[in-house]
Amino acid sequence: MSAFKLVIVGAGPVGALAALYAAQRGFDVELYEMRDDFCASTDVKQINKTINLTLAERGIEALRQSNRHRLTEEIMNKAVPAYARMVHGKNKAGLTSMRMPYDVHHQALHVLNRAELNQSLLRELSSFPNVQVFYKYKLVSLNPKQKTATFQKDGCEQLHQIGFDLLIGADGAHSATRFHLSRYAKLNITQSWMDTYWCEFSMPLGHSLPLDCLHIWPNRDFMFYASPNRDGTFTCALFAPEKVFLELKASGNIVEFFHQNFPGVLPDLISTESLQKQFLANQYHPLIDIRCSPYHYQDSCVLIGDAAHAMVPFYGQGLNTGFEDVRILFTHFIDASGVSPYSSPCLQPRNKFSGPIRSFLHEYTQFRQPDVHIINELARQNYTELRQGVLTISYKCRKRIEETLCLYAPQLGWATQYRLVAFETMRYTEVLRRVKRQGLILRGLATGLVLTVLVLWVLCYYWTFKHE
Ligand SMILES: Cc1cc2nc3c(=O)[nH]c(=O)nc-3n(C[C@H](O)[C@H](O)[C@H](O)COP(=O)(O)OP(=O)(O)OC[C@H]3O[C@@H](n4cnc5c(N)ncnc54)[C@H](O)[C@@H]3O)c2cc1C
Ligand SMILES: *[C@@H]1O[C@H](CO)[C@@H](O)[C@H](O)[C@H]1NC(C)=O
Ligand SMILES: *[C@@H]1O[C@H](CO)[C@@H](O)[C@H](O)[C@H]1NC(C)=O
Ligand SMILES: *[C@@H]1O[C@H](CO)[C@@H](O)[C@H](O)[C@H]1NC(C)=O
Ligand SMILES: *[C@@H]1O[C@H](CO)[C@@H](O)[C@H](O)[C@H]1NC(C)=O
Ligand SMILES: *[C@@H]1O[C@H](CO)[C@@H](O)[C@H](O)[C@H]1NC(C)=O
Repeated sequence: MSAFKLVIVGAGPVGALAALYAAQRGFDVELYEMRDDFCASTDVKQINKTINLTLAERGIEALRQSNRHRLTEEIMNKAVPAYARMVHGKNKAGLTSMRMPYDVHHQALHVLNRAELNQSLLRELSSFPNVQVFYKYKLVSLNPKQKTATFQKDGCEQLHQIGFDLLIGADGAHSATRFHLSRYAKLNITQSWMDTYWCEFSMPLGHSLPLDCLHIWPNRDFMFYASPNRDGTFTCALFAPEKVFLELKASGNIVEFFHQNFPGVLPDLISTESLQKQFLANQYHPLIDIRCSPYHYQDSCVLIGDAAHAMVPFYGQGLNTGFEDVRILFTHFIDASGVSPYSSPCLQPRNKFSGPIRSFLHEYTQFRQPDVHIINELARQNYTELRQGVLTISYKCRKRIEETLCLYAPQLGWATQYRLVAFETMRYTEVLRRVKRQGLILRGLATGLVLTVLVLWVLCYYWTFKHE
């Protein structure tokens, strides 16, 4: 009989994957979710955030290492691969579009439906006898010293207090676990609301966009984005500062705004009427960046996923990083620590494992935190880059040179930052180190080239002069 109880708060994709990892290792798992089970109602639209997620190598690797091959296959089969980013714009001659492949080795990002992913993971969990899922249970307080958590069942006054050996907080960006933990652990938390809001639109069939790309219409201050769906439609988002949304809501000039800033969208891709209707009906949401350190408290609680690090979506790495948290926490730390669910009851498992758990949670924070902070920062920088950088010559130059090196001289191990982030699983700290080194080399080579030309020119000049 297992005596070690693992409680997970939040049945989002990260909490569900953590439950799967824990279930496979034989722990007694209890998963608590504030909202209802939407599988039962099948109306996934009830989940407000519908914008689709892109899964990249880190996320896929974490799925694979759950060792549920059929599940991974099922999820990947439902995904739409996107091999390139297509940048749309306009010049004197008319509309332009430029296809920029993500990767010289033809790897793709995988676009997934958020709700479907969540439900595939939760369905898989139902096959484990050692997992119990409680819907409509909201975490309302937590005492990590006593190892007790209190939940409120939807619509009832009565509170349920439960005990645990280890609690994993995976309750998203506005994590209650993090909030309660911060009273005990000395958590440094920084939270920044970005002045970037997003609003979702849908694009019906009848458009002429290629389905194997993510599309962007960059502009200095705003961006329009479209990601493909299985049925051939697109799900789109407008990103802009709040004042733009306020102005547009007040003036109703959304159509003019699109004509001016995103040429080619209206009326070819979305009808004018539909755009107006959707803009009125759909809410716009702010983006938030949350960083926190440490991620754990003694031997009792640890935060993963958005609860530990919410980032802006411009690198498409939020969920991927959350999935990677799960893989690293379990395979690097829990497995290595010798903490086993199959302990004999007379050994007092709490005391027995307290030491090892305390030290592996500490090591987990030490290991993971520098990586996570880097991707938070890169995601933030990437917004500027997506809006303007993709249009600059130096960006295109560096991308072209690096891709050429990656393709024709793979033994040099040269790769673009994007490739290292999206199609590799090396640590983000290592990604940054390599990118910096490559940047130095490129700059060195460029300087060398300029100097050589200069010297040759001077020599030539001198030589001609001397011989006249
Ligand atoms: C516009 C946008 C686009 C994005 N695009 C991408 C992308 O392309 N690729 C990518 O990798 N990432 C993307 N992300 C990030 C991604 O959505 C998140 O990283 C991911 O959803 C985090 O999963 P999670 O399970 O940690 O949290 P969540 O998905 O937020 O799940 C948390 C769960 O906890 C529950 N919960 C909350 N509070 C409580 C409580 N008190 N008690 C019990 N349960 C509770 C919630 O109901 C929810 O089910 C995007 C984000 C946004 C906003
Ligand atoms: C995931 O699905 C479950 C079950 O339908 C639901 O309760 C939960 O709110 C969902 N979470 C997210 C983040 O979509
Ligand atoms: C969706 O948003 C509406 C309005 O803000 C809210 O009433 C509803 O509870 C939200 N649904 C979910 C599942 O969060
Ligand atoms: C993306 O989300 C929409 C709902 O907003 C859904 O209809 C569509 O199937 C999703 N795309 C994929 C690839 O699952
Ligand atoms: C929290 O912030 C303080 C002040 O910046 C710093 O000295 C301390 O090391 C931080 N703690 C952690 C765990 O990051
Ligand atoms: C920023 O993200 C986009 C895709 O989301 C990617 O194509 C681009 O290369 C990234 N920028 C950098 C510097 O990697």
